Amino acid sequence: MAHLFNRNIVLGVTGGIAAYKSAELVRQLQELGADVRVIMTRGAREFITPLTLQALSGRPVHTELLDPDAELGMGHIELARWADLLLIAPATADLLARLAAGRADDLLTTVALATAAPRLLAPAMNQQMWRDPATTANVATLTERGFHMIGPAAGEQACGDIGPGRMEQPAVIAQAAAALFSSGLLAGRRVLITAGPTREALDPVRYLSNHSSGKMGFALAQAATDAGAHTTLVSGPVHLSTPDHVHRIDVQSAEDMLRECLALAPSCDIFIACAAVADYRPADVAAQKIKKGAERITLELQRNPDILATVSASPGAPFTVGFAAETNDVLTYARGKLEHKGLDMIVANDVSNTAIGFNSEHNAVTVLWRSGSRQLEQASKSVIARELIALIAAQLDSNHD
Ligand code: PMT
Repeated sequence: MAHLFNRNIVLGVTGGIAAYKSAELVRQLQELGADVRVIMTRGAREFITPLTLQALSGRPVHTELLDPDAELGMGHIELARWADLLLIAPATADLLARLAAGRADDLLTTVALATAAPRLLAPAMNQQMWRDPATTANVATLTERGFHMIGPAAGEQACGDIGPGRMEQPAVIAQAAAALFSSGLLAGRRVLITAGPTREALDPVRYLSNHSSGKMGFALAQAATDAGAHTTLVSGPVHLSTPDHVHRIDVQSAEDMLRECLALAPSCDIFIACAAVADYRPADVAAQKIKKGAERITLELQRNPDILATVSASPGAPFTVGFAAETNDVLTYARGKLEHKGLDMIVANDVSNTAIGFNSEHNAVTVLWRSGSRQLEQASKSVIARELIALIAAQLDSNHD
């Protein structure tokens, strides 16, 4: 069964009688594992109080676009970036019209425009309003622009009419939300991913390392698994829990990581090197703790093996994807690594911007392959991971055409 573990969902509630079902929907989403934040429109607050949804979601409910206090806590752009999914349930006829017109005249419509996450709408309205050509045209426009729809269901309505327009049941909506993350794009494929930093020992208590948190690599492992792949994650030391159904192997040093990758890569279809591997390690590892003494000491470093280049040069190499973490001339250096490491694809990551890259919740990257490129705008690492997996699946398929 599909799940929503590690998924951030912004639930938009608009002003219809079905708003009372949104309380149950919060519970259903949480039961599938999601972290839920609620936005309520003014109309929604006529039907159900923010307090109810605050108590259920365990988070303050967001209501105003131009509220300085609320913006200090989590502003509308942060909310848009936090979301892995924007779900609007119920979505009234008025909300559909405002979204179709591209309006941004309240918090919910603004977040809907500002998010890079998928958007799922659960319409709810009177059957005649649903059948009106204006609503039909708005739904067609929104679907064309990539909005997903669930429902409405047909049956007896609160106003006494019978017909289509009832909001789908919360359990059905929650399942539709979870299904959006299971694409099947990599069904049956074997994917190997490296993540996190490596630690290069200096003595029994000290090491050289870097600020990689593993978040990007773990998000890729989740996205690959959601796309139907058998995923193995070779991870340096991080403080993250393993995504469901992912096989994780923990390592410390670059040499450990290389050993595991060389053993696993021949049986894989795709290798994604997201780890921040130390380029150098101490040439000698002291057997005892190095004692404080001279004012200045010199550390001699030995170059580490390049895991990515070694895998891509191995016979029968999988489709190989590297990352390039750069602080300047990002695309030039990334293109160089694509060429000289013999990769199928590279993900250029500007790590001079502390809002993205190392140890942040977000990323923004440019993906390069031999015949093309694609820029992925700033979004949560799980949104970026899903987009990367879709690009990898498309390139893998085109290589086999
Ligand atoms: O872990 P997070 O906090 O979420 O941060 C994510 C990230 C910034 C670490 C990630 O997005 C990223 O950019 N990873 C690559 C970091 C890196 O080491 O880049 P690089 O340009 O130095 O290396 C180029 C490529 O060669 C990378 O795919 C790297 O995994 C690989 N490499 C590098 C050195 C080495 N000895 N062996 C390798 O396989």
